Amino acid sequence: MELPPALKSAVEAALAGVSTDELAASAAALSARYRAELRDGRFHVDADAAALAYLAARLPATYAATRSAMAAAAVRLPRFEPASQLDIGAGPGTAVFAAADCWPSLARASLIEGSAAMRRQGANLAGGDAISRDWHAADFKTAPPTLAPHDLVTIAYVLDELEPGARTTLIAAAWAATTGLLLIVEPGTPAGWQRILEARAALISAGAIIAAPCPHEAPCPLLPPDWCHFAARVARSRVHLRTKNASVPFEDEKFIYLAASRIPPETRPERVLAPPRAASGRVSLKLCRPDGTRADRLVTRREGDAFRIARRLDWGDAFDTAEPTGG
Ligand SMILES: C[S@@+](CC[C@H](N)C(=O)[O-])C[C@H]1O[C@@H](n2cnc3c(N)ncnc32)[C@H](O)[C@@H]1O
Repeated sequence: MELPPALKSAVEAALAGVSTDELAASAAALSARYRAELRDGRFHVDADAAALAYLAARLPATYAATRSAMAAAAVRLPRFEPASQLDIGAGPGTAVFAAADCWPSLARASLIEGSAAMRRQGANLAGGDAISRDWHAADFKTAPPTLAPHDLVTIAYVLDELEPGARTTLIAAAWAATTGLLLIVEPGTPAGWQRILEARAALISAGAIIAAPCPHEAPCPLLPPDWCHFAARVARSRVHLRTKNASVPFEDEKFIYLAASRIPPETRPERVLAPPRAASGRVSLKLCRPDGTRADRLVTRREGDAFRIARRLDWGDAFDTAEPTGG
């Protein structure tokens, strides 16, 4: 996935003139903090150099993951047309750019972000859309934010930076502020999946309906060492390649998400949980099913339409014999 052209140009403009060595050093330091899931009282991004490194090295991947999760939710909720978004732990506003691309109805966004450097860089990114943005400073560790109601609420790549108690408080406050859809995105690691499972249990108890990826509210059928996650292929720009000292022009961002809805989805077909394995005349699928079970299904050419659909499926798609692919 590529960033939308206007956002790509805005990121390139923000990075113009910044030395590659400085970007690479800041990106390496940031990546070490993220990998260690360090919680030492500091924001990972607490200076402009780190915020610029985030734009170069992380924004393309968190955009791709969040945009993919939104696409999956939007297929399940075709009548959902959000006008307002609350983006919690907004960083440079990545999830607002993704929502503007997914839902043309979006008109305004409130972005809550603790790091002044992130807020500065985010406010400078003119993404070429007509969304009116209000930036707010808050630290969710010290006080649960008071959140006004919004149609769409997003918490992307934030829970891993919070202690368990702060996560629980934030999720409850976010759900109370959600009039339509709450979308949570986390890194696609076993720990990220566990955080999503905790949020999922709390949200289901509070009355949420899971629009995606699960086609049910039953307990997750996967057991460790297995875990639920998906992947988005991210195109790397020249500055992205230089920042990471990489030569492959893409990377695969692993992520996990939860689309918790107040609107019942129209359909909830099986979800493809791993890359499909295709051989001549057959496709093997690992599926999560609406009855709350996980299944391995072999679809053969004899099944006609089901086989034609299965052949085009990708990891993370819904296996819906009533619709071609996706979602
Ligand atoms: C990994 S970034 C994700 C940014 C953006 N949502 C994205 O997907 O690109 C996490 C963001 O959450 C913010 N954050 C983390 N803990 C916070 C807290 N306690 N209070 C306010 N913001 C916080 C960080 O400053 C950072 O900008």
